[in-house]
Amino acid sequence: MRLEGKTALISGAARGIGRAIALRLAREGADVGLLDISSAIEDTAAEVRKLGRRALAIACDISDSGQVKAAVARVAAELRPVDLLVNNAGIVDNIASVEKMSDEKWAQEIGVNLTGAFNLVRAVVGAMAERGFGRIVNISSVAARGGLARQVGYSATKAGLLGLTHTVALEYARNGVTCNAVLPGMVETENVRAMPQTIRDRALAATPAQRFGEPEEIAALVAFLCGDEAGYITGAEIDISGGGHLNTLVLGGSRPASLR
Ligand SMILES: NC(=O)c1ccc[n+]([C@@H]2O[C@H](COP(=O)([O-])OP(=O)(O)OC[C@H]3O[C@@H](n4cnc5c(N)ncnc54)[C@H](O)[C@@H]3O)[C@@H](O)[C@H]2O)c1
Repeated sequence: MRLEGKTALISGAARGIGRAIALRLAREGADVGLLDISSAIEDTAAEVRKLGRRALAIACDISDSGQVKAAVARVAAELRPVDLLVNNAGIVDNIASVEKMSDEKWAQEIGVNLTGAFNLVRAVVGAMAERGFGRIVNISSVAARGGLARQVGYSATKAGLLGLTHTVALEYARNGVTCNAVLPGMVETENVRAMPQTIRDRALAATPAQRFGEPEEIAALVAFLCGDEAGYITGAEIDISGGGHLNTLVLGGSRPASLR
């Protein structure tokens, strides 16, 4: 197994992409620390244990550096020091035009999506560097590059994660620690399934693959980036969007017959 003997820490693992990542890393042999504000995190831990791996579920608001520090210390004490960090937790539902975005919502998105990831990186990277091995994967979004109308906080934080990724990659490459960003397009999670059909249709029309991604597809990429074989990949921004990051102007809503 690719990740045998490794300890992973995944934020936002109670559902969606984070849950799929936790299960995939466990299937690859890793023990997992799971952080979330939702009590459903215990369900993910139970699933991991069914796979024969150790799991530690911790209620933790990642925007609070004190809670993050305490959670990382618990993982080190009860499992092992963190080898693989996946910054997955993100808030995606603050929708308002720029001028209507409140101070509170803006601060909340920065706090969870960007400061939360920073808190976790800061709490684990020193020990990774000392041991000469570490893998950090930041779940960004195609919105980091193309923006997202009425989600200024979300897209700004996802772009911010790229700056975080590059800087951590630069500082720690010599210590065997890699840091990469994964940029998903639309993925079939609870959130996306709950979107109004008109929005789903529009997003589908802008996706050359003509389907949304599956959480397990994101998890497979993360697992690869966490493995030994990915040791020379750092500071990368990897799109996983069915071509959704490309210019879809000519394709339009449905694919022309000649392209089918
Ligand atoms: N679903 C998509 O289409 C899509 C596309 C691009 C990027 N992403 C990114 O992938 C990640 C996961 O997306 P998802 O759709 O699975 O999201 P989701 O909302 O289903 O899950 C996010 C998890 O994070 C947890 N969380 C929220 N605030 C937290 C906090 N302060 N501390 C700890 N945990 C917290 C939630 O409780 C939840 O379990 C997010 O960063 C999201 O921005 C998702």
